[in-house]
Amino acid sequence: MKVFAHRGFSGLYPENTMLAFRKAIEAGADGIELDIHESRDGKLVIIHDENLVRTTGVDALVNNLTLEQITHINASKTKDDAFDSPIPSFEEYLDFAAKGNFITNVEIKTGITWYPDIEKKAIEMIRAFHLEDRIIFSSFNWISVMRAKALAPEIECGFLYEDCRHNNLALQTKEAGIQYMHPDFKLLDDEVVSQCKENGIGLNVWTINTQERMQKLIDWDVSSTISNYPDMCLRMLGR
Ligand code: G3P
Ligand code: CA
Repeated sequence: MKVFAHRGFSGLYPENTMLAFRKAIEAGADGIELDIHESRDGKLVIIHDENLVRTTGVDALVNNLTLEQITHINASKTKDDAFDSPIPSFEEYLDFAAKGNFITNVEIKTGITWYPDIEKKAIEMIRAFHLEDRIIFSSFNWISVMRAKALAPEIECGFLYEDCRHNNLALQTKEAGIQYMHPDFKLLDDEVVSQCKENGIGLNVWTINTQERMQKLIDWDVSSTISNYPDMCLRMLGR
């Protein structure tokens, strides 16, 4: 099982910052999960919310500020401003990833704001850094997932979900040419795990912050755990 650090090592460091990404890799994580949005000038930035206020204290929408403005704002509000770590650009992150050997789950945040070319822009940058084989795209917006797959068939993709009534999503995922399902842990059960195994669909499950949840994933032998505490997951895997 692979261990992904959710928004980086966000249990201990400010989420979606270069510090949290570096700490995750130093802890031994196999990969990093992060979230992308677009700035006013159409550049890709790494942040979870549409508004900066929760992580920075600045009450502004990402797509109302320029890349230059955004990347000068400290993003450690969730850690009582104890760190000096600005919002990273996607380009800065890819430069870091290109120097390592880990996987990145890029979540395209088009659930609320629609950024028309975000998939195309992300793919062009990923290709420029030759990272196609170390990226997994995911999104709650499955139109974004299908667009990414159509534009870059060589890059793996997953359907992200926290509410689902499909009888056999694994079969539909396979038929859509998508490699993974990314369910909220609460939606996983023996039947979904079996359907994924029968259809060759990988399961990357979030958010795994307790030993009880991690033990269930170990028992189910899923593809990946996505956790704010990659150290805890690695320890339980004996790594
Ligand atoms: O990709 C898994 C997880 O990150 C999805 O939820 O809200 O943390 O982006 P959220
Ligand atoms: Ca995410």
